[in-house]
Amino acid sequence: MSTHTSKSSRRMFLSGAAAASAYVWIPKPVRGYTAAEMLATITIDNKVKPGTSKWELDTPALCVDLDKMEQNIAKMQSTLKANGLASRPHSKTHKCAAIAKYQLQTGSIGICCAKISEAEAMIENGVDKICMTTSNPSKSKIRRAMAIRKKSSNFIQAVDLEENARDLSAAAKEAGVVADVVIDVAVGTRSGIPAGDDVVALAKVIDKLPNLKLRGMLSYDGGVQHAKGFAARKERALKTIQPNAEVFAEMKKAGLNAEIFSGGGSGTYNIMHQAPGFTDVQVGSYLFMDMQYLAIGGQDDANIYTDFQPSLTVLVTVLNNRFPGLLTTDGGSKAFTLNKPNAGVIGEPGMDYNAGSDEFGSIKITGTPSKSYKIGDKLECIVPHCDPAVNEYDWIYGTRKDKVEVVWPITGRGRSQ
Ligand SMILES: Cc1ncc(COP(=O)(O)O)c(C=O)c1O
Repeated sequence: MSTHTSKSSRRMFLSGAAAASAYVWIPKPVRGYTAAEMLATITIDNKVKPGTSKWELDTPALCVDLDKMEQNIAKMQSTLKANGLASRPHSKTHKCAAIAKYQLQTGSIGICCAKISEAEAMIENGVDKICMTTSNPSKSKIRRAMAIRKKSSNFIQAVDLEENARDLSAAAKEAGVVADVVIDVAVGTRSGIPAGDDVVALAKVIDKLPNLKLRGMLSYDGGVQHAKGFAARKERALKTIQPNAEVFAEMKKAGLNAEIFSGGGSGTYNIMHQAPGFTDVQVGSYLFMDMQYLAIGGQDDANIYTDFQPSLTVLVTVLNNRFPGLLTTDGGSKAFTLNKPNAGVIGEPGMDYNAGSDEFGSIKITGTPSKSYKIGDKLECIVPHCDPAVNEYDWIYGTRKDKVEVVWPITGRGRSQ
């Protein structure tokens, strides 16, 4: 509270000084809320207090079942421990500093960020073991990355181009630091330098740059994570990582510092330990799950991926039930995004949810619903794809046994630059 007072009195002082001038108009101070203040306001307003039933929340409401999420984390950690790998979870999924802190407390060695602004949001909120998995070819982003590095010696930046490495080294020098970097080595065609001799050549350049410290390499295979069927996924994942594993071994043979070989996601977390040299997985979706991941099938069930429980849901309210075979809800594309497959209504296999309209969801009743839905009734849905859905919300309600326990700000929400 003392910060509010000092901030607002400083603003008062500034506007007071302006008032003394007859010629300069300065708008009245606008109250700026930090995320913590907003959280306090919500509870002070009596809207959402701990203990509130999630069914009383205004909708669309993004919720996470804390028991399920914690069990997902525990399952991930115990599997990785048994397989000799570490976790460096990708925070692009949750964008929430509170969840990142929980992951670090429960054994993860760091977190990953996809965007510099996401990393800034994390560091501003006390999470400092960050690996930026996206390279930053612009001068401005390089400077921002090095500003983060200045705040945290645990910051690691991905790089995949010699020119970019030289720029990073120069920016690190300017910031007075030696910055840790990893080379992004492609698996597939999305990002990174193709596996081969060029990787070792780049590693040698980085090794000689005065303000960079080579730590190893990243190799995330985005395409394989959703490959259907465990056996097919395993075969493909181990095949596509093979050239990268060879490059990693060559880096080591050349005497280069290669202590990190990171990649893998929620679909391959129990496969990547078979890739030679692999050190850690950048799992994201395992926390929450979504309709896309549920459909990939696992070792136990060829049709449904049951390794992790769907903990993330969106609650919506029925706005219209007047048309036969149809329900309209308040959850459209701004609540679910346009990703496919459609959101799944929990407990209602005979409902097909279409979130194609901005503000409205349209449910086609294709089977017999569990009850007759009235206007104002609520439904709970699993989202099509968790990462972009979370990015639609300011808050996530953490619930246990259907009661709200915490309200976490989505710290990096909308931080896309
Ligand atoms: C570079 C990188 N690492 C890790 C992940 C997390 O993967 P998943 O959500 O499949 O666990 C992603 C997701 O897109 C990613 O882009």
